[in-house]
Amino acid sequence: MSARRLAKDQPDSFALSAASKKEIAVWIKKYPKGRQASALIPVLWIVQKQAGGWLPAPALEAVAAHLDMPYIRVYEVVTFYTMFNMAPVGEHHVQLCGTTPCWLRGAGDLKKVCESKIGPKGSVSADGKFSWIEVECLGACANAPMVQISNAAGDDYYEDLDVENFGALLDDLAAGRKVSAGPQNKRHTSEPITGAATLNAKGMYNKIKKKKLPNTGKVKS
Ligand code: FES
Repeated sequence: MSARRLAKDQPDSFALSAASKKEIAVWIKKYPKGRQASALIPVLWIVQKQAGGWLPAPALEAVAAHLDMPYIRVYEVVTFYTMFNMAPVGEHHVQLCGTTPCWLRGAGDLKKVCESKIGPKGSVSADGKFSWIEVECLGACANAPMVQISNAAGDDYYEDLDVENFGALLDDLAAGRKVSAGPQNKRHTSEPITGAATLNAKGMYNKIKKKKLPNTGKVKS
C-alpha cells in the first residue's frame, strides 16, 4: 500500500452539521464518561459522509476538537484505514481488493478495467463519476475477486467479478442504471455455483419442535 497523506488542495474550514452531531452523540454515549475518543472510527465515518466521501484536514481538526483528543491521534487512524479517504472521490468510489485470493482469481485484470474506464489509481475520472483505489482483503474471499463500491445508495460489495461483468457493472453505474450488489455470476451468496451441496436434505427441518416459552405463551422454535 502506498503512503497516505493529506490532499494538496484543502477547504479553508469545516463545521460539523447538526445532523452529524446528533449521530455522533449516539456513539459517544456507548462509552464511559471521558472515553469519548473511543468513538473515533464511527465518528470519522459520519464526518466523511457529511464531507462528501472524503476527510479534509479541517474536518479532522473538527473531529479532534469535538472528541477532545490530539489531532495526531485522529490523523494516525485516518492514515491507517483505507476506508477513510484523504482526497476527494468520485460519485462511485471503487475499492478493489488486491490481496492474494482475489489476485489469484483475477484482480489484476480488474485493475486494468479500472485503469481503462476510470483512470490511474487514486484519481477521479474526468466526469467526476468514478474513483478507485486498491485495498487489502475485504473479507469476502469466498466470492473473489470482488470490489466495494461506495455511492449515494450505500457501501456495497460486488463479487465473483471478471473483466466482462465488472466492465458492464461500471457501464451501468455510469449510465445511472439499476445494479444489484453481491455475486455477479448469479450464484446464491457463497454457495457453490451449482447450488448448495450440504444441509439441504428434504424435510430435515420438519422435526424441529415448537416449545412454549414459560409465562409468555409465545412460541419458540
Ligand atoms: S482477498 Fe479479496 S476479499 Fe479477501
